[in-house]
Amino acid sequence: MASTAERLLARIHDRQARVGVVGLGYVGLPLAVEFARNGLTTIGIDLDERKVEAVNQRESYIPDVTPADVRASVDAGRLTATTDYGVAAGLDTINICVPTPLRKTKDPDMSYIVSAVEKIAAHLHPGMLIVLESTTYPGTTEELVQPMLEAGGLEAGVDFFLAFSPERVDPGNPRFNTHNVPKVVGGVGEASTRLAAALYATAVETIVPVSSPRAAEMVKLLENTFRMVNIGLVNEIALMCDRLGLDVWEVVNAAKTKPFGFMPFYPGPGLGGHCIPIDPFYLSWKAKQYGFEPRFIELAGQVNGAMPHATVDKIADALNVQKKALNGARVMILGIAYKRDIDDLRESPSLDVMGLLHRKGAQLCYSDPHVPTLAGRSWIGGYDLASTPITSATLADVDCVAILTDHSAVDYGTLVAAAPLIVDTRDAIKEPQPHVFKLGAPPPAYAETWQPMDISRHVA
Ligand SMILES: NC(=O)c1ccc[n+]([C@@H]2O[C@H](COP(=O)([O-])OP(=O)(O)OC[C@H]3O[C@@H](n4cnc5c(N)ncnc54)[C@H](O)[C@@H]3O)[C@@H](O)[C@H]2O)c1
Repeated sequence: MASTAERLLARIHDRQARVGVVGLGYVGLPLAVEFARNGLTTIGIDLDERKVEAVNQRESYIPDVTPADVRASVDAGRLTATTDYGVAAGLDTINICVPTPLRKTKDPDMSYIVSAVEKIAAHLHPGMLIVLESTTYPGTTEELVQPMLEAGGLEAGVDFFLAFSPERVDPGNPRFNTHNVPKVVGGVGEASTRLAAALYATAVETIVPVSSPRAAEMVKLLENTFRMVNIGLVNEIALMCDRLGLDVWEVVNAAKTKPFGFMPFYPGPGLGGHCIPIDPFYLSWKAKQYGFEPRFIELAGQVNGAMPHATVDKIADALNVQKKALNGARVMILGIAYKRDIDDLRESPSLDVMGLLHRKGAQLCYSDPHVPTLAGRSWIGGYDLASTPITSATLADVDCVAILTDHSAVDYGTLVAAAPLIVDTRDAIKEPQPHVFKLGAPPPAYAETWQPMDISRHVA
């Protein structure tokens, strides 16, 4: 007689397995659609009724998922959504894609995972495969999730199967998506790894098995820590270039012509998104429990955390050249999503910059083609705002435009022609202009007379 694992394997291969995705956000919805597109009957479970209703109404609320994709899957009878965990009783597999934020103290907030696993545990049955995808500290799957699921008497790796597989989606990336980004998988025991790999192989091109859930958890944190530390390094180089009278953009662009041993990272107004500013602190929290001080993470966190302040200093310096004070200045923030061509505001440094400017008395408006409105509760100013279009008339009404996110839909020609003053933190404007100040570069208006600080006087 076939073992429990073999039966599930056969059901996955034959596309008979009924799969569940818990959490239908930026990660979960694309995954659910990809499973459904590849022939698996997929049920999404989310506590947010609006998302559930949208999926069932054949709509998409995630920019990377087209409405046509959702429509095709729903119409084929392969994708439905519900708020009711009761459906888990009839599922063969469940992927958990719920948020993993940080508490104010920078400790991991496991409450979403705990809540989802509690509800899944109530319907866990023999032969089921559970895969955690939420980014988290090494040990979460075995130390937190496994005991909760085993409390009902079933054993992981024997009666049911459990794995961790980090999500690597890059929202807004036109080249890489759920289907063609390799999937790392580490299970509790060999059978769990094999089953999770088989599940993903239905929808993802390349599977990379590793030896354990802890290894898979660490892979994701290495990837995101790598980005965070390198962004911290280039942000520090930007501040250094500013002081030395060099243009960091020129330096990075020339450095990246080296065909080996260098990978470009770019400075900016600070870290944003649900991953890079947060995930490395999951790792440092865990490392500290073992008496290990993760110095790179802490240092990069400090440098990156100072970038909104450096941006505000740059805006103040630019206004100063035009004999204007920040207090009372009308500043337009261009781009409030945390990165180019997406609508995601989570941890966006633009909101920090706006808060700092507001505290110094600036009058703020913003323009973002992807974010039509900003609720007052989302930022320190506390008042609602709506995106201002970029026109000669609106630009005539501001003292300074600060480019914090370089969306490609923005008309930079009109901006350069009509704005009285621009602070560019993203190198969105390539040609030097007398009224464009760049983060990490000397001020244009002083180009002829400005001198780097003479540090020889300070050296003993
Ligand atoms: N967004 C990214 O670019 C990205 C990339 C890689 C990894 N991740 C990781 O993936 C995980 C999910 O991130 P996301 O961006 O998709 O988050 P999200 O906020 O877009 O989506 C999470 C969804 O989970 C739902 N939810 C919360 N608690 C629930 C529960 N108990 N039961 C059912 N549904 C619940 C929410 O309503 C929401 O729809 C996080 O751990 C994140 O770090 C995100």
